[in-house]
Amino acid sequence: MRRPILAANWKMQKTRAEAEDFVEKLLPLIEATDAVDVVIAPPFTALDRVAEVLRGSRVALAAQNVNPEEQGAFTGEVAPRMLADLGCAYAIVGHSERRGLYGESDGFIASKAGALLACDIRPIVCVGETLDERDAGKTFDVVSSQLAGSLARVPDDRADQVVVAYEPVWAIGTGKTATPEIAQEVHGFVRSQLVDRFGPSGEQMRIQYGGSVKPDNVDALMAQPDIDGALVGGASLQPDTFARIVRFQPPGGAS
Ligand code: PGA
Repeated sequence: MRRPILAANWKMQKTRAEAEDFVEKLLPLIEATDAVDVVIAPPFTALDRVAEVLRGSRVALAAQNVNPEEQGAFTGEVAPRMLADLGCAYAIVGHSERRGLYGESDGFIASKAGALLACDIRPIVCVGETLDERDAGKTFDVVSSQLAGSLARVPDDRADQVVVAYEPVWAIGTGKTATPEIAQEVHGFVRSQLVDRFGPSGEQMRIQYGGSVKPDNVDALMAQPDIDGALVGGASLQPDTFARIVRFQPPGGAS
């Protein structure tokens, strides 16, 4: 009942020419896959070019970040309206690299999510614990407070437009994926928090897993009941590996 959503997060990688080349190779590889949502988040500098090459395809465009203000004296920042103008349907907010390297708080992330929704852009809101937090038995506390803080400005009637990405920080870019069971345990917890907060809409909200998703682990992850998609970094940089992730095999049959 929840449509799977597979997203490529290129981070600070690819020039416009490299981005265009990727999309041209990807599109034919995923032509037959129409039961899933596919999203590509290039760096800001390649958004316009990627939007052009994606035109007419079913692949959606995403930004990797946004500033919550409408406009003004915010050197180096990009406003939601500018992303809407480029054709972004989604934007990632609260990625652990932004939380960790740039000190972004849940309150700031909440403002971003609210501002995006006001421009009809769907936020992909990332949460996840560090290795120290997991080892200290704080995973659920951390995830619960990040969710409450980061989703604070999501109006109840817009909840179904929000995607949550659970990305354990210890699994990002490390090659250490959470096992499907560990991931499902947290996804199930996230689901219960979303239902507590938003009621039945919480059941409709999609929860992506992120952290070293690869062609060889995506099938088992996607087979879990509360894993509705993947947010993919490293393995999204090559068209063939990302295409295999988009074409994940549901349990018991071909997609
Ligand atoms: P990774 O990154 O797939 O390279 O671990 C995931 C992410 O940071 O979204």
